Amino acid sequence: MERIFGKPLITQKAIEKRIRELGAKITADYEGKDLLMICLLKGAYTFFADLVRNIQLPVMVDFMMVSSYGERSASSGSISIIQELSSSIEGKDVLLVEDIIDSGLTLEYIYETLQAKRPNSLKLCVLLDKAERRKHEVPMEYIGFTVPNKFIIGYGLDYQDKYRNLPYIAILDKSD
Ligand code: IMP
Ligand code: MG
Repeated sequence: MERIFGKPLITQKAIEKRIRELGAKITADYEGKDLLMICLLKGAYTFFADLVRNIQLPVMVDFMMVSSYGERSASSGSISIIQELSSSIEGKDVLLVEDIIDSGLTLEYIYETLQAKRPNSLKLCVLLDKAERRKHEVPMEYIGFTVPNKFIIGYGLDYQDKYRNLPYIAILDKSD
């Protein structure tokens, strides 16, 4: 079997610290609003669970599953919605949470899809920004970390649907 290693890139401690900062900022920004946070599955699930617990507001949560990469480690360029939201977002203040933005294609597509459902406001929060690779610009309000143009695993991010359970963020390294 092929052996995969993850070179640590962002430690658990650094992730926790950054999420506390993001949570404080979101709490201040959405004070008095009707905040609905949407988790993009699968990748954002770990980040989402930690982030919502650092927000001192009565947030509502919902989940959407999209697929853009399949079994490959490079973008296939096509996006499909595998699981839709469970209720209407019309008139709500929506914060969409994603694990990583790479080319921007996924978030551009989801952003437009959600905008069409007429929320009161729609903002994006991503844990990781692979800024070098951007092809589609999307407005991002909250960014955890900027990462290099490498394949990233752990803390929700997968390689062939595995390694999501690594408690820290690592660079995929297939060499011995
Ligand atoms: P984009 O559409 O090119 O911006 O790609 C975004 C999606 O691709 C994310 O939702 C991730 O699921 C996946 N992705 C992009 N880069 C990585 C990576 O380095 N590791 C794991 N998944 C990634
Ligand atoms: Mg994803």
